[in-house]
Amino acid sequence: MREKSDTFFPWANLRFVQALRMRPQRFNIISGKMMRVGIIGAGHIAEKTAFTLLRMSDMTCGAVASRSLEKAQAFASRYSIPKAYGSYGDLLDDPEVDLVYIALPHSLHYGITKEALLKGKPCLVEKPFMLNAGEAKEILEISRERGVFVAEAIYTRYLPAVDIIRRDIASGVIGKVRTISATLSYEMSSKERILSPELGGGALLDIGIYGINFVLAYGGSPIVRTSSLCTKFPTGPDMSDSISFALEDGTVAHVLTSAVCQGDNIGVIAGTKANLWIDDINNPKLIRIYAKHHELLDEHTVPSQISGFEYELRACRDAISEGKTEPSQMPHKETLNVMEIMDSLRKEWGVAFPGE
Ligand SMILES: NC(=O)c1ccc[n+]([C@@H]2O[C@H](COP(=O)([O-])OP(=O)(O)OC[C@H]3O[C@@H](n4cnc5c(N)ncnc54)[C@H](OP(=O)(O)O)[C@@H]3O)[C@@H](O)[C@H]2O)c1
Repeated sequence: MREKSDTFFPWANLRFVQALRMRPQRFNIISGKMMRVGIIGAGHIAEKTAFTLLRMSDMTCGAVASRSLEKAQAFASRYSIPKAYGSYGDLLDDPEVDLVYIALPHSLHYGITKEALLKGKPCLVEKPFMLNAGEAKEILEISRERGVFVAEAIYTRYLPAVDIIRRDIASGVIGKVRTISATLSYEMSSKERILSPELGGGALLDIGIYGINFVLAYGGSPIVRTSSLCTKFPTGPDMSDSISFALEDGTVAHVLTSAVCQGDNIGVIAGTKANLWIDDINNPKLIRIYAKHHELLDEHTVPSQISGFEYELRACRDAISEGKTEPSQMPHKETLNVMEIMDSLRKEWGVAFPGE
């Protein structure tokens, strides 16, 4: 009989996982030891991260914590993790955890990140970094004051595709950038955390955030004007969003996102001479340059990857080993900028979370 992880997580082929368990581990960095990640929350994305860590030879997963000890133990056994905790606080107290990866619903990021930073634990926090800019400012301030590393796990900002796309833009091959468009939509309407205001639900914070990051990563100047609309779930959070930005240099950008359909998820950066076409803004694999009349000028593929999460994990490891409190790929200023943009969009739409 297939186990649950085998059915729901195609990357978690159990025979392959078992083969990986047998392999000798290599050691490097952080005083000659491999950096040990502690996972908080044994949900969907935690599985993907655990699987990624299992395949990495330069980082490892040292512990997992769940609200349920049985769930943590089952998760640990699936991914060869040496320690399982039935409380998040116990993992934060483990001196053998070097980096805490927080994989909880949005509204729970703030409390656990604050607790971790106050205990001196470096953190990688799933996107959106926090529920709103107020929470983000407070967390970034604690990180700065205490000198403890914290980063947002918006993994698209750490991928090799970022440098490929930026190099193409800088080369002048597409001319001057005039428009950017990014779509990201998934049918997620049965997920409690998407529907629930208490958990920080809605399309914007979950997937619209990737479109906004796409515009910020490749737009050449700050956003000066925004125009947007959304439709909402009966429970309150935004369901489908259309967001337009004007950038200072005259670029116009459009982000389309929905939690109730499967989108094409394509990104296009259009310049005066040609356009860059990105097959999937949520994990680019193919980047094409098209000239007038859709003439293909060039194309790039990205290096083969485990899941893509290995890049953000390594970025954290490297920044921590260099004594930094933020990764250069996604600096705190940019994380806060994204939170402020999303706050102002939600304000316009009348989408608020309990306590706001
Ligand atoms: N980077 C990406 O590509 C990506 C993709 C999907 C999601 N995410 C982000 O990852 C985070 C988690 O998303 P997910 O899809 O993994 O969610 P999920 O499958 O629902 O898992 C979240 C986990 O949080 C824990 N939890 C604690 N209190 C909870 C509560 N009141 N209700 C529900 N869960 C609670 C649960 O773990 P225990 O029961 O084990 O404690 C649960 O399994 C979100 O911030 C999301 O935006 C990122």
